Amino acid sequence: MRKKVLIFGATGYLGKYMVEASIAMGHLTYAYTRPLKLGSAGDEDRKFKTLQDFKAMGVTIVEGELDDHEKLVGILRQVEIVISTLAAPLYLDQLKIISAMKESSNIERFIPSEFGNEVDRVTALPPFQALLNNKKRIRRAIEASGIPHTFVSGNSMAAYFIHYFFFHVVWNYEEDVANYTIRAATDPRTLNKILICRPLKNIASQLDVISSWEKKSGLTLNKVHIPEEVVIKQTQTLPGEISIPMAVLHNIFIKGEQMNYELKEDDIEASTLYSDYNYTSIDNLLDISLVNPPQVKIATFV
Ligand SMILES: NC(=O)c1ccc[n+]([C@@H]2O[C@H](COP(=O)([O-])OP(=O)(O)OC[C@H]3O[C@@H](n4cnc5c(N)ncnc54)[C@H](OP(=O)(O)O)[C@@H]3O)[C@@H](O)[C@H]2O)c1
Repeated sequence: MRKKVLIFGATGYLGKYMVEASIAMGHLTYAYTRPLKLGSAGDEDRKFKTLQDFKAMGVTIVEGELDDHEKLVGILRQVEIVISTLAAPLYLDQLKIISAMKESSNIERFIPSEFGNEVDRVTALPPFQALLNNKKRIRRAIEASGIPHTFVSGNSMAAYFIHYFFFHVVWNYEEDVANYTIRAATDPRTLNKILICRPLKNIASQLDVISSWEKKSGLTLNKVHIPEEVVIKQTQTLPGEISIPMAVLHNIFIKGEQMNYELKEDDIEASTLYSDYNYTSIDNLLDISLVNPPQVKIATFV
């Protein structure tokens, strides 16, 4: 069924996949974005190009700030589904969207910015736990508001993390998480539920992925063991821009938190719910990344 879908954070890394999936599924798609800063370069140039691409795809661009309550309420009244892929520093700003949705009182589904670990079932070192706590706070605010919602636990975005060969991880291709999210947004079975993306073919250990990559590329990786205590120490001593990703890596790849809990009978697993959808396995993704290396914005730790 064709819906009106508003995406916050659409111009960002994951947001673009959401826009593409929403358009591909025939929804009328809107992007709420901060106004471009004229005359600035770099990120703004990239954003300008992204917005041009969106317009060519038929996306309606709505320029505005998250502080502009009236504007938010106005655009929310025109749509039915809201998806947020806002960046981590903006998690708590989603309280402004929730407040506007309460006033517009017409939203059929809200999917907040998560798409990572199942925040209510993992614990992390302090720099990462602070981000998880903000996601949890948004969950509780949405539940208290009564706004229909779905929380999507996408685990690890595979193209984003393909440079990190560590431990037990669920590697999900960004396109697939976006596809599952847009499907879930209009699915009565996911109403007020958590959608966990844990496809069987995408659960792989460090050694599996390294050995598969080595076979496919014909190259041998030089492996250096970094003790866990060193990683923990770095999360305590390095500045936030490094300690946060280190704590994320520790949680996902060293503690293996994405696989540290069993799925319960009433959990909804994405590849089981949408078994007609042919997701990309981590094995296929290694093929794709060898031909066309993924463009990611994070640095590889040496
Ligand atoms: N599990 C994983 O592997 C994984 C990987 C990547 C991302 N994620 C999750 O996906 C979500 C989105 O992350 P992302 O990396 O796609 O986000 P992002 O690209 O860093 O940012 C998304 C959008 O947020 C807005 N934004 C960014 N910084 C801002 C600021 N300082 N002030 C105001 N607006 C700002 C921008 O939108 P406008 O300029 O258009 O307003 C931007 O396009 C997050 O919840 C993240 O944790 C998960």
